[in-house]
Order: sequence, then structure tokens, then C-alpha cells
Amino acid sequence: MAKRKAKVEVPTPVEELDALEASTELARLASEIARHDRAYHEKDAPIVSDAEYDALRQRNAEIEARFPKLVRRDSPSKRVGAAPSGGFAKVRHSKPMLSLDNAFSEEDVADFLARIRRYLDLADQAEIEVVAEPKIDGLSCSLRYEDGELVQAATRGDGSEGEDITANVRTIKDVPHKLKGKAPKVLEVRGEIFMEREAFLALNRRQEEEGDKIFANPRNAAAGSVRQLDSTITARRPLGFFAYAWGEIDAEPKTQWDFLQALKGWGFRINPLTKRAADLQEMMAFYGKIGADRAKLPYDIDGVVYKVNRTDWQRSLGFVSRAPRWATAHKFPAEQAQTLLEDIIIQVGRTGTLTPVAVLKPITVGGVTVARATLHNEDEIERLDVRIGDTVRIQRAGDVIPQVLGVVEDLRPDDAKKFRFPRKCPCPLKTEVVREEGAVARRCSGGLACPFQQVERLRHFVGRGAFDIEGLGGTHIENFHADGLLDVPGDIFRLHKKEKELLAREGWQEKSVTKLLDAVEARRKIGFDRFIIGLGIPMIGEATAKNLAREYGAAEDFIAQMLQAAKERGKNAEPTKKEKAAEEVGEAYGRLCNVPDIGVTTADAVTHFFADKRNVDVVKDLAGELEIQSMARRPAAAADSKIAGKTVVFTGSLEQMTRDGAKEQAEALGAKVAGSVSKKTDYVVVGADAGSKARKAEELGVTMLTEQEWLDLIGQE
Ligand code: IVH
Repeated sequence: MAKRKAKVEVPTPVEELDALEASTELARLASEIARHDRAYHEKDAPIVSDAEYDALRQRNAEIEARFPKLVRRDSPSKRVGAAPSGGFAKVRHSKPMLSLDNAFSEEDVADFLARIRRYLDLADQAEIEVVAEPKIDGLSCSLRYEDGELVQAATRGDGSEGEDITANVRTIKDVPHKLKGKAPKVLEVRGEIFMEREAFLALNRRQEEEGDKIFANPRNAAAGSVRQLDSTITARRPLGFFAYAWGEIDAEPKTQWDFLQALKGWGFRINPLTKRAADLQEMMAFYGKIGADRAKLPYDIDGVVYKVNRTDWQRSLGFVSRAPRWATAHKFPAEQAQTLLEDIIIQVGRTGTLTPVAVLKPITVGGVTVARATLHNEDEIERLDVRIGDTVRIQRAGDVIPQVLGVVEDLRPDDAKKFRFPRKCPCPLKTEVVREEGAVARRCSGGLACPFQQVERLRHFVGRGAFDIEGLGGTHIENFHADGLLDVPGDIFRLHKKEKELLAREGWQEKSVTKLLDAVEARRKIGFDRFIIGLGIPMIGEATAKNLAREYGAAEDFIAQMLQAAKERGKNAEPTKKEKAAEEVGEAYGRLCNVPDIGVTTADAVTHFFADKRNVDVVKDLAGELEIQSMARRPAAAADSKIAGKTVVFTGSLEQMTRDGAKEQAEALGAKVAGSVSKKTDYVVVGADAGSKARKAEELGVTMLTEQEWLDLIGQE
């Protein structure tokens, strides 16, 4: 078996993910972000740049917004940072230390203001004064003063509990030990500890001379200095502190601005660039100015922070998840760089999609070395007119994978080579590459016989949403496949016959082999829906697989029906409408088209899959190894339910159910779920933070229900 080329991970754009891919991706992001949080907070040694970290969180948020049902209990969106590590005493924050939501564009900032107006029920143009501050790239710290004396300093930690770094913080010159003037009895001041760039460079020079650890950037140097167990070392590190917020306080100030002035009076350093802004225009002007001056500042900043000035408004706005509604961080765009495009290679995905990937002369962008960037598809190469040998502009933003923005035409050498998209798949089969009508992607037509696709499918098969075989990860799959132990999913359930070969492998012992084989055995009995997911049929994610399982009940019936549907579809043209599928194509195809969630395109993806004998062999082979548990057939929509035939709109955030779950349930009870409110709407179910839809319902006199009233109506506890 040929070894595959090194794999390049090019994540699918969020809008193209199906539910299964989304859930796998959310699981991956949760563990990856947690790993970065640990590296950052506990070891002061981040593995990735801030931009990359933000991109991961952003991708996580985007996927969660598209698939609210898939939000994980351990989602990074519900956490801030990492739990504190050993070495320092733990401190419980009297008020949680939260984080900020990010805005990346003027539109995001406008949305931020619009959300606030909606929430406070203000007129569309009502003025909301904000305080605009530079976003200091350091680490946040909470200082507790009692009767004017500094009694404790703590890191943020996980937001609820941090570490006691009082002794170290006392060595920072900007932190007063005793407050000047009349101070509240209890005052917690929050702000950012940072190190100036010059000091950072000097420190690294010293560290290098002494053979000590080199810091990646000023922020890590600051964090590393604060987390010294010996405070005399901290004292030798030039750290600064900008104060910008409060935690516990006896009497809350009326505005953020007043508070900053009071801080000055008590002896704190506040950022001198801070300004008030009356509207979006002034906020953007501040952002532009700070962005332009950024490089000249002696310390690093990574954006600006806007905070609603009035604290009574801040109180009404409150918090959501890990961030206040009354503040946002407007980040500077991810860094761009130019580098040489050395080659374009082709990556083959699970369903045979060929993705062109730019091989770059490695370059550091935002602190991370970039050697690959996605070129998406053939059309994108054409659009950018990129040629091998070109110098390209790349950006790391909004997505984990660097993007090629364009070509620096002036630097194009005479021998720059146009890339011809291969007509043959790079897999050993060298099968023909097809571009389906209307599709941008080209696919390898080798199907399951293509070894590249085999690996991707196996990888998908053992993944979380599918068979979820513990201890059989992507690397094992790749190695087992390369060495001929696995070709198709059924082989996994025959691994016990290859126990000897497994034992002979490097790094495997009796114990680990037994564990693996036990994990495989544990999945021999499998739910019908998981079985369908495992097949890796394009477009069939978790929700659709469930619907298919409910419709067909048992695996044998499903396979027989799909074969029949494929046969019918093969003989006939695409139906004009899914409702006409049975009439124009055939019974079995028509039945498939009428499964909830499925339309002609998805039905075609399924029949296309079953029209390929190689796929059918693999499916039957797998089914032969398993004990597939049947599923109860979907009950006919309860015609007698109180909501049958009614049109319902859900708005705002629901507490007891997810939006998708509510929709699914309503539909199962025979209701129609609409996206917008009209005269035809029967019920609007109003969750927290409901906006314009609730207003519209009120205007039109549509019955509005709370979430509980809705649950009562449908007879659910
Ligand atoms: S206010 C409840 N203001 O950015 C709001 N944070 O991404 C608390 N940061 O955890 C934060 N400069 O470490 C605020 N002027 C500023 C800031 C600032 C830097 C940091 C802070 C925070 C993080 C959020």
C-alpha cells in the first residue's frame, strides 16, 4: 500500500459543514482550545498566535451559531481561560472576571450598538456614549484594596478562581500599595499587567545569554514574570499596569469615565489614549487613529475596547455567557504577509473532493509559521490568477487556515507557471477527475477504491458522531491503512483476526491491543442511525441519518430501499419537484425524497452512493459484521396535537431547549415553523433577548407565548 503524502488540514468553510462534520469539528475545537488555554494560562507558553487562537474561537462560535443543537457542555464559549495550576494559592473572585466578545468590522460594531439599543428599548438613533480604550495585550489582574491598602492581587484564572500573586504584583511600580485621597472601604481594581516591547527585547537578550527560556512575545514575558514563585525575580522585570475596571466596590460609579478619573486620583495609571465616543463614527475614528499609531506605542495592543459609559445601562445589559453585553473588543485585522508560492498540491477529501493547497515558502505571520494556505478550488485559482513562482499576499484571519489574498503582480517572474488542475486524481488509481454540473469542486471518481478516500472515510467512520471507537484515532487509521491492516470499515471488526500483526507493531503491547479490540467489540452492537452516519454518504449528517433511520426502521430494509431508489433514479431524469418524485422517478425514490430534511439534492447524493457497486459491497460487508439495532418508525405527525397545522415562530434564546430541538419537536407535532412573523403566524414563542420579531408579533396581535407556556401547550413537562 502506497504511503500518503503528508496530510494538510484544510477545514471546510463553516457554511459547507453538515451536522456530523460540525459536531466532529466542535469536539476538535473544544479540545484544541482547551489545550491552548492550558499552554497559555498554566505554562505561559502558547503554541499559537493570538490571531490563530481567536480564529479557533471564532470558528467555534460560527459553527455553534449554525448548529445550536450541537453546542457542547464543555464548549469553549462557556469558559474563560483555564483553571489555575498549582504553585500559587487559589483566590475566588468576589465578582467573576470575564472576557470580551470580539468585533472584527464596522458592521460588527454597528451590530453591537444596535443590540444595546434593542436590549435597552432605545430608539434606533439614540445616542449611546461609550468609552473607547486601547486593548492592552497583557494579562488581566484584580487588585483588592481594603481601607485603602492593597491586600490581594489575583490572576484571572478561569474567570471564577485565579491565583494569588500579591507578592509579585507589589513589585510593579504602577500598582499603588496605598490609595491616595478618600477611597472606598472595599475596592477591587482590575486592569492589565504588561511589559513594554523594549523591556521584552532586553529581557530576552539576557535570557539568551544566560541560557534561559526565551519568551515568544511581551505578553508571555509579562505572564511568565508574574508567575514567578520568587518575587525578587519579578521585581527585576519591568512590568506596567493600566487600570480599567472594577470588581467589588462599595458604591458603583455613575460612569466608566468617572471611574477612570477616580482611579487617577487614587494613584493608578490609566491609559492616556482613552477617549469618549458619541456614536459609531467617532468609535471608528478612534479605532482608525489607534490602529495607525499602534506601531509607535511602546507596548503591544491588539484592538480597542468600547464600553457603554453609563453604569446603570451596564447593569441592565448584564452579561451573557462569558462576556458583558455592554462592552466589546474591536480587534485589529489579522496580520498579512507576502511570501513565495513554491507549489500547488492537491488534497483528496473523504468524498473525493480535490482541494488545491498552496505550498508557501515558510513565513511568520502573527507569530506563527505558515507553510500552507488553502486555494479552495479551481475557480479560486483562476480568479486570483495565481501561478507557481508568484509572490502572494496571505492572511490569517477569521479562519484557522491561512488564505491567499492575491498576487503581487510586480514581483511575478517571467517563468511563473500557470497551474493546470489535474484531470487525474493524485491517488495511486489515477482515476479520472470529474466536475459535476454546477459544482465548483472537482472530485476523484475512484470512490471507495481510492486509497486517499479510504483513509478519510475510515477516519470519519471511527469519529465521534459515527462509531466513536475509543483509542482508534486518525493516526492509527492512517498507519493501519498504509500497512494493509485496514481498507474498509468492515476490516475494523475483523482486526481481532490480526491480533498477532497488531502485537508485532512498534509501540503496541498485549494490554493496548486488548484494549483496542475491546473498544471495537463494544461497537459491534450499534444504533441504526450511527450505522448510517458511519457510511459517510455525502450530505448525510447526524440529523438526516436519524430521520432516515426513523423512516426505514431497520438496516436491511434501508439498504434494499436505497438500491431500489438508485435503480429508479438511474433510469429517470431528476424530478421537477420533490413532491413529484414518486410519480416521475419511482416509489422508492419518492419515499426517500419525503424523509424530513431530505430534498432532491440529498436524495441524489444517497442514490449516487448506492448506485456504485463498490459502495454497496462495503456497506453489506460492514452490515455483516454488526448487530444493528432497529429504530422505532417515526410516528405519523400527531394530527390531534394542539399545534397541528399551526404556524409557529421561535425568537430569542430559549432556555429549556435548543432552537433546532424546539423546531424539530414542533414539526413532529404537525406544526409549521416559520422564520419570520406575519399575519399568518399563530404563535410566537419568545425567549430571552427577543428583538424585532417580538415587536412585530405585538404589532400584529399574534399570540405570544413564553417558553414555559409553549411547553405547557404541547403537553411537555
Ligand atoms: S475590560 C468585563 N478593558 O482583554 C470586561 N479589558 O479579551 C473586562 N483587556 O480579559 C475587560 N485591555 O485581559 C478591558 N481596556 C481594557 C482592556 C482589556 C485589555 C483584556 C483583558 C480582558 C481581555 C478580553
